[in-house]
Amino acid sequence: MSYWGVLFFLINGIAHAGLGDLAARHGKYFGAFAEYPLVTQDATFRTVFEREFNLATVGVYWYQTHNKEGLLDLTEPRAVADYAVAAGKKLRVHPLVWFADYDQIPAWIQKYDGQPDRLREFLKEHVQSVVRFFQENYPGQVVAFDVVNEPLEYLGTRVRKSLWSQITPGDPEGYIALAFQWAREADPDARLFLNEIFTERNDAKFQALLGLVRRLKARGAPIDGVGIQGHAFAPLASRFGFQGRGPLMVAAAPVERFASHLRQVAKLGVEIHVTEMDVPLLDNHALLPGRAAVRTARRQGRQAEVYEGFTRACILEPACKAMVVWGVSDRDSWIPKYFPGFGRALLFDGQFRPKPAYWGVFRALQ
Ligand code: XIL
Repeated sequence: MSYWGVLFFLINGIAHAGLGDLAARHGKYFGAFAEYPLVTQDATFRTVFEREFNLATVGVYWYQTHNKEGLLDLTEPRAVADYAVAAGKKLRVHPLVWFADYDQIPAWIQKYDGQPDRLREFLKEHVQSVVRFFQENYPGQVVAFDVVNEPLEYLGTRVRKSLWSQITPGDPEGYIALAFQWAREADPDARLFLNEIFTERNDAKFQALLGLVRRLKARGAPIDGVGIQGHAFAPLASRFGFQGRGPLMVAAAPVERFASHLRQVAKLGVEIHVTEMDVPLLDNHALLPGRAAVRTARRQGRQAEVYEGFTRACILEPACKAMVVWGVSDRDSWIPKYFPGFGRALLFDGQFRPKPAYWGVFRALQ
């Protein structure tokens, strides 16, 4: 076991405060994505999760809930939420409406393409049923619903076209406003968030997000909060077609810019959550073992600085109430799957040992 590992378990043995406990002293949440089926299958995941976090993001993805026409199947979200609430964690529910161009909108829904009335009826029913499910089963436990996820183009500044745009023809932002109204109707006390990706390095997109939220609020959409996902990539070439400017340079991750983004969102009068933080590192390619170790240590050090800086920024911004990491261990991160060549993005390594990144967050929360 490494020096850090030994130290970690020593500290734990004495009186370890998890990240969630530390965050709570600042009046904030520090959470993690509680992915299904990890929470039901993996005892190590549960141990670390329960010790370290005070907030659980519960996935209500359509590929989990809408496999059969006419049936909203909440078995998996229920398993996660039951577990998390029993362990004393608050919940973030993610996402209710998503354009989802991976494989997330089931084929049977796509056959309503071109039938705005059917789509509208379906979406309203979905939003309200999920909100009511949580209201009835976990009253007072949900601190946020990501009502609309990633409404803007990945790299652009426009609201993206999706199946849901058809609901309000000629009004690309209309369906977003409607989704928020439906959610509010279902539960007047629910905290409703708009969650967006890849604004960290893209000021144009970030400004577009501010504009969108401002306009939605101006037309009466009940938005309580903005989620900044916090996938802290440098510009890089990837399968999403980023304008690559060379390899990932974690050192250049823009902590200052991030802090300024938080301040600007706060000025809109909404709450902020950092919803999906991770800091992907480039894989080591064909290096001699000695060099790889040096490089790994250097990159992990920079990664720790980014985590520490982002966490500190949230702690210092009164409107920022929660930070969430997008997974617990590097073994289970989405990054290698979606961005081949990158990985090791989280606070714990594949064996659930804390990395320098963990201690970066720890320092920021102290
Ligand atoms: C990823 C998750 O890791 C998967 O479990 C899920 O299949 C979908 O993709 N932005 C988001 C998250 O809002 O829902 C995505 O999560 C990562 C990017």
